[in-house]
Amino acid sequence: MAELEVTRRRFLGASAATAGGVVAANRLAWAADPAAQPGPVRTPDMIDIVLEVNGRRQAVTVEPRTNLLDALREHLSLTGTKKGCDRGSCGACTVHIDGRRVNSCLTLAARCEGKAITTIEGLARDPELHPVQAAFIAHDGFQCGYCTPGQIMSAVALIEEGRAVSDDAIREWMSGNLCRCGAYPNIVAAIKDATRNSGQES
Ligand code: FES
Ligand code: FES
Repeated sequence: MAELEVTRRRFLGASAATAGGVVAANRLAWAADPAAQPGPVRTPDMIDIVLEVNGRRQAVTVEPRTNLLDALREHLSLTGTKKGCDRGSCGACTVHIDGRRVNSCLTLAARCEGKAITTIEGLARDPELHPVQAAFIAHDGFQCGYCTPGQIMSAVALIEEGRAVSDDAIREWMSGNLCRCGAYPNIVAAIKDATRNSGQES
């Protein structure tokens, strides 16, 4: 029995060493040639689509059921858009499609072909932050920051829609964006500030 245990340990050790060696060798090869790294496995039902994100057209291969949130994060490495509830309740995944704010977790990626998608990564005009981004920083409109990209995308649309006319209106029209840290007072202050700087009354 003791001999069997030693043999088993040796076998597991050798397997682990071999697997580790293969992983290390693969990592070295991928570092030298990133294109050699395997992408998502393609299944027969996958479809090729082209998404225009932040002014750049990019081809992606997705399952028909893939939502825009996963297409952005998993296929285009645009991880600024956050996944909170994944069911349309929290607003963390808010992006703009043709200028309108939407929950990307409830939007099929394949339905977005031919539309202009803007994510938090596309707001700033390097090196200048978007005025709403700057206002969130100036007013400490966040704590952990997880909800912040969605809050900012909603706030930008809210101001452009001319709806930031009072504190109550801001709270109402931002009610689809939850903040578990409770940064709401500072978020309202940031939106009011950005609204004033845009030349609108708040
Ligand atoms: Fe989309 Fe919560 S992740 S609404
Ligand atoms: Fe933490 Fe809003 S800043 S959830």
